[in-house]
Amino acid sequence: MKKLMAANWKMYKTAGEARTTAASLAVLTADTLPDDREVVIFPQFTALSPVADALRHADGYSVGAQDVYPAAEGAYTGEISPGMLMDCGCTWVLTGHSERRHIIGESDELAGAKTAFSIKAGLNVVLCIGETIDEREAGRLGEVLERQLAAGLAGVKGDAVPAAIAVAYEPVWAIGTGKVAGPPEIVAAHVLVRQLLVARYGQVGSAVRILYGGSVKPENAREIIALDNVDGVLVGGASLQADSFSRIILA
Ligand code: PGA
Repeated sequence: MKKLMAANWKMYKTAGEARTTAASLAVLTADTLPDDREVVIFPQFTALSPVADALRHADGYSVGAQDVYPAAEGAYTGEISPGMLMDCGCTWVLTGHSERRHIIGESDELAGAKTAFSIKAGLNVVLCIGETIDEREAGRLGEVLERQLAAGLAGVKGDAVPAAIAVAYEPVWAIGTGKVAGPPEIVAAHVLVRQLLVARYGQVGSAVRILYGGSVKPENAREIIALDNVDGVLVGGASLQADSFSRIILA
């Protein structure tokens, strides 16, 4: 199973800046990307085509969108469909990111609808789940992960798994805060996610990639990637500079 090294560029970078960063990244890692690594860049919408273009010849690289709407087309002002994303060169999409859940107010069910619809349309999905600090301190980690995963995967059948889906465990308190979860916290949460995936899908659940996200940096990436059941990382802040993200990719 290849490790999935994902960059979430959030609402940063113009299309031109994103293209330049993607091109630098390809130069920094093109000849050295190990066979067991795969990279996905998630830029903002107007940068999708330029980044896909910059990475066209970069083996092991793909492009994804940060959001999608679960319909093929229609009167959904401001939204974008899986087909439109694929038309820009996307093969991946993020669903359920904590900033969409907590800032935009997206529900577990909407994250699930986006996940199922995107997979049916032919995109691969990174479904993000994770607890807030209050939920963790109230001993509700298991309950939150179970609820978000059940709703997030509600419409995803076993035959689409594991190729089309990865799950990112991102504790909300570790995102953009510099507070990385410690190895025991990461391992415990990933074991739980693995058990939930196997309970849901049987043996195929053991082949679904589980990524860790939350303040991953060049300095801690190697240790995190080596942990049990950590099949990649989803990186925000430290993925914005080509030099920094290339060191994470190659960690
Ligand atoms: P961070 O963000 O690496 O800046 O903590 C991770 C994410 O939001 O996916």
